[in-house]
Amino acid sequence: MVAPPRATGAIAISLSLTILSYFLYHKSRSKSTSRKTHKTLSVEKARKGLVAAIGNTPLIRINSLSDVTGCEILGKAEFLNPGGSVKDRVAVKIIEEALESGALAQGGVITEGSAGSTAISLATVAPAYGCKCHVVIPDDVAIEKSQILEALGATVERVRPVSITHRDHYVNIARRRALEANELALKHGEGKQNESPDVTLVNGYDCNGEKQSTKFASDCKGGFFADQFENLANFRAHYEGTGPEIWEQTGGKLDAFIAAAGTGGTVAGVSRFLKEKNTKVRCFLIDPPGSGLYNKVTRGVMYTREEAEGRRLKNPFDTITEGIGINRLTENFKLAELDGAIRGTDLESVEMSRYLLKNDGLFVGSSSAMNCVGAVRVARAMGPGHTIVTILCDSGMRHLSKFYDAQYLSEHGLAPSALRLEFLGDA
Ligand SMILES: Cc1ncc(COP(=O)(O)O)c(C=O)c1O
Repeated sequence: MVAPPRATGAIAISLSLTILSYFLYHKSRSKSTSRKTHKTLSVEKARKGLVAAIGNTPLIRINSLSDVTGCEILGKAEFLNPGGSVKDRVAVKIIEEALESGALAQGGVITEGSAGSTAISLATVAPAYGCKCHVVIPDDVAIEKSQILEALGATVERVRPVSITHRDHYVNIARRRALEANELALKHGEGKQNESPDVTLVNGYDCNGEKQSTKFASDCKGGFFADQFENLANFRAHYEGTGPEIWEQTGGKLDAFIAAAGTGGTVAGVSRFLKEKNTKVRCFLIDPPGSGLYNKVTRGVMYTREEAEGRRLKNPFDTITEGIGINRLTENFKLAELDGAIRGTDLESVEMSRYLLKNDGLFVGSSSAMNCVGAVRVARAMGPGHTIVTILCDSGMRHLSKFYDAQYLSEHGLAPSALRLEFLGDA
């Protein structure tokens, strides 16, 4: 049957629209596929290089503590990661997830507000993914920290320390910088030129109090805020990496796991994985002075009145231990599966670090030493014959100016003097 002329015209129009939309659909599909392939390639390439050396760290028997307690006390030697800490795993996971979701473009800037290991790990691995790193830190942090970050190729912005509730807290500035990088990339995409870079501002303000924006290179491909405290890629790095490694390395024969928390990523990821494997594995938190987590785990309340966030800054002299202890509940910590919590003191951590150095040749940082204090307490509570795992987060090398400085310690009443484990009530 032959269609009438009007119908023939309509058929011709609808046919050409179909052909056109088919063409457009396939063009946009091939574009997004090629973008995706590009991202996947950068992740695959990174995994063949430096990134392949991250994780699968040895689980070391800490001979001195094992022999004294009659337990097997094992430390996951995270200080052997290329960036020198447990945070290498987190940096990789944060970047890969962001690249895969498209939240971070290759060539983009990862921003983070951190004075510690996470920033160093992000700066270490970012180039492997073709990305850059911008770090916002408080200006009272040891100058070596910004020197290390700059040596690693990161840009560093030192700002005045203020409360986390303040919009110009370094974490909040880091979040803002990612947005600014995105705006810049958008402008650049539209062919607009940006002003010259300036990262020597204080909390984003120049000396006349004028609000300034931190500038990134004009070819910047956008930004992504790493957000280690709330980003659950942190939890997943441990749930998918550290936890399974511990399970395999012990052949599933472990009785307890203990670690301190900063973001909570490690203790949450590992405890959740181990509990899923065997609910009988007991998981504990060790908490340093000045932290509200002990109260949260044991009594269900985060803060005492004077500890409430915004009323009281976490004073750097609350504790000498670095990277652990916090007065707010993070999304990562919320996922922890804990059987209890133990408190540790600064002096115990200092004494433990010297004990490990003298007896095992282990040169570890303050959080690792605190974790070992916790491991001994758990071993004593459980009795001989148990296997207890903890984390050796970073090396003592990062802690020379305070934790390993004799003068600093004696000024703060923390000079070590123990010969054995008497600082833990040992006979
Ligand atoms: C040296 C060091 N140890 C331990 C931790 C705590 O780990 P998490 O953040 O997974 O709780 C951190 C966190 O920043 C750290 O920097």
